[in-house]
Amino acid sequence: MKAKSILVTGGAGFVGSHLVDQLVKLGHQVTIFDNLEDQVHQGKVPDYLNTNAEFIRGDVRDADILTKALLNKDVVFHQAAAVGVGQSMYQIRKYADYNSTGGATLLDIIVNNNKIRNRIEKIIVASSMSIYGEGLYTCSQCGDVYPKLRPTEQLKTKQWEVNCPLCGLECKHKGTHENKPLFPTSIYAITKRDHEEMFLVTGISYQIPVVALRYFNIFGTRQALSNPYTGVAAIFSSRLLNNKPPVIFEDGLQSRDFVHVSDIVQANILAMEKNAANYQAYNVGTGRNLSIKDVAEKLMGKLVPESDMQPVIEYRFREGDIRHCYADISKITKELGYSPKMRFEDGISELTHWVSEQQADDGFEKARSELERFGLAH
Ligand code: UD1
Repeated sequence: MKAKSILVTGGAGFVGSHLVDQLVKLGHQVTIFDNLEDQVHQGKVPDYLNTNAEFIRGDVRDADILTKALLNKDVVFHQAAAVGVGQSMYQIRKYADYNSTGGATLLDIIVNNNKIRNRIEKIIVASSMSIYGEGLYTCSQCGDVYPKLRPTEQLKTKQWEVNCPLCGLECKHKGTHENKPLFPTSIYAITKRDHEEMFLVTGISYQIPVVALRYFNIFGTRQALSNPYTGVAAIFSSRLLNNKPPVIFEDGLQSRDFVHVSDIVQANILAMEKNAANYQAYNVGTGRNLSIKDVAEKLMGKLVPESDMQPVIEYRFREGDIRHCYADISKITKELGYSPKMRFEDGISELTHWVSEQQADDGFEKARSELERFGLAH
């Protein structure tokens, strides 16, 4: 593919930085746009930032500096977002502002500036599996069903599994495909749906190809360990690094699809290169579900192999948490030739090696007490 001039918003972050590395490796000219959010970067430029990419420090809501960054770009990857699901439930305005207004600012600039609009060939936007809410289920009586959140009253009785919304029988999870109706269960998830819908609608109206990628639970190096609002694999790793056991919510049998960051990069590159991707939304996962207990045990086996430490299963729960969601990846496999390469078991060797060289403040207690203060953890 001919070398392109590419902007990656959020290019100093977990996914963005790995994507930048790969784009540079492929010979593209890359500009990173990132505000170096304190909660993620603690005020520092990360040492992994690719020195062969241009770096612009800026906020996606700042139209002036974003306009400069967008000039002369062929492709834009919009990865910038605030990512704490629980936190989004008590910093509602901040999340709406960073994510929805940030995305709107970017689109506004593109459609109102002819020079920018006429040059852009494609925009790839980071969406999330969180927009589905609960995953897809099947009921022995009713077939495929789309349950909403489990009622708090049910969870208080420690009945964790999901019941059929039509007949009430317990139903079984299955791979979630892109046509499952969306039911975001947090402000964060609503802003991700906003991203997806705003970008696709604008792209279709102005014939600028847009692709939305619905990331499942990503793991890998550079995930912000000291950020307690981030994903479970990073939270467990930073607990273990501080000699504390992982704390598991519910009974630990809830499951997710853990996809390695290199496979997320693979999907982004395919989305850029393949015309078949234009105006589509794709799941990016592995198609396999792992229980949270399994994740804790696998990480402990690698990070503290000699220890007799056990994960703490508290039988408590967070508001808004879903039970099971994992990807049906047939659409992206068939249309773009995507194929996940890194199994969790292999990816955590690299992850734990990296984790053991990091210093991480374990912010778990702080995050949990905030949730409790707002009545969002039981
Ligand atoms: C995560 C991301 C979300 C992203 C989505 C898809 C966070 C907070 N959430 O959502 O941004 O869009 O994946 O990539 O980054 N758990 C524990 N103990 C803990 C933390 C979590 O047991 O200390 C459990 C939770 O109850 C849940 C599961 O682990 O059942 C996964 O939680 P989490 O990593 O927060 O991810 P999601 O909510 O799936």
